[in-house]
Amino acid sequence: MSLPRAGELLELARSVAAEAGHLLHDRRPAGRPAVLTTKSSPTDVVTEMDRAAETLIRTRILAERPGDAILGEEGGESGRGLVRWIVDPLDGTVNYLYGLPDWAVSVAVEVHGTVLAGVVAVPQRGEEFCAMLGAGAWLWSGGGPPAPLRCTAGVPLGQALIATGFGYEAATRRVQGEVVAAVLPRVRDIRRGGSAAADLCALASGRVDGYYERGLNHWDVAAGGLIAAEAGAQVEGLAGRPAGPSMTVAAGPGLFGELHDLLAGLDPERDA
Ligand code: IPD
Ligand code: CA
Ligand code: CA
Repeated sequence: MSLPRAGELLELARSVAAEAGHLLHDRRPAGRPAVLTTKSSPTDVVTEMDRAAETLIRTRILAERPGDAILGEEGGESGRGLVRWIVDPLDGTVNYLYGLPDWAVSVAVEVHGTVLAGVVAVPQRGEEFCAMLGAGAWLWSGGGPPAPLRCTAGVPLGQALIATGFGYEAATRRVQGEVVAAVLPRVRDIRRGGSAAADLCALASGRVDGYYERGLNHWDVAAGGLIAAEAGAQVEGLAGRPAGPSMTVAAGPGLFGELHDLLAGLDPERDA
């Protein structure tokens, strides 16, 4: 069986992310979208729009590529193909719920377990970030040509603007609060944007210098992690482990080591 070209997969990812972004933007109910259920904690909500966006993305992907597997935050795993799509239909649900602009649609595509292409659409800002493994990362915005992305380099820790996020469970947040309290006096400042995918794209664009978070799922980081890496960032866990649920650290050359070592010394993967 011949494998699809990464460029074709990227085009499909762009098209489904854009369509889901339009749906989320155009059909957001006035006031607040209805919360259908909660997951890990009472504040970890699922709205009707999270589900509608994922259903749309799944339908469009399977119409084009019926043999592919899909891992989606809301619908779980389906299919068994060599090509697997990793979908967070709405990253930043709490921002979306409250009418804040930083929410994203994140779509990545893996072949044989390696992420080859990723797209993060941030509809309220009119921005679409994308990357292809080994080929670079770009930002489309304002109808202009795509701009290549490059993260900052050589920023010392004390001058670095660092993005992070917090999980939904109280025990995890207690440790995350202790860690961020120790990071804050060592860096320029902290940003908590509310969308891990958008945070990684902010890193790729040089809008922040570094990012770390404990507790991310594959759908939070698959597309944004590739975009940050293709923009020159190192994206890993602690002690050379791959980025994953226990920790994701990302920063440009020079800063990564300092940020990593600061975090590692704070034992950020511990339980409360
Ligand atoms: C969340 C956001 C948030 C991060 C959380 C994620 P969701 O995803 O990315 O910024 O701090 O860890 O769970 O629930 O909005 O898809
Ligand atoms: Ca998410
Ligand atoms: Ca989500």
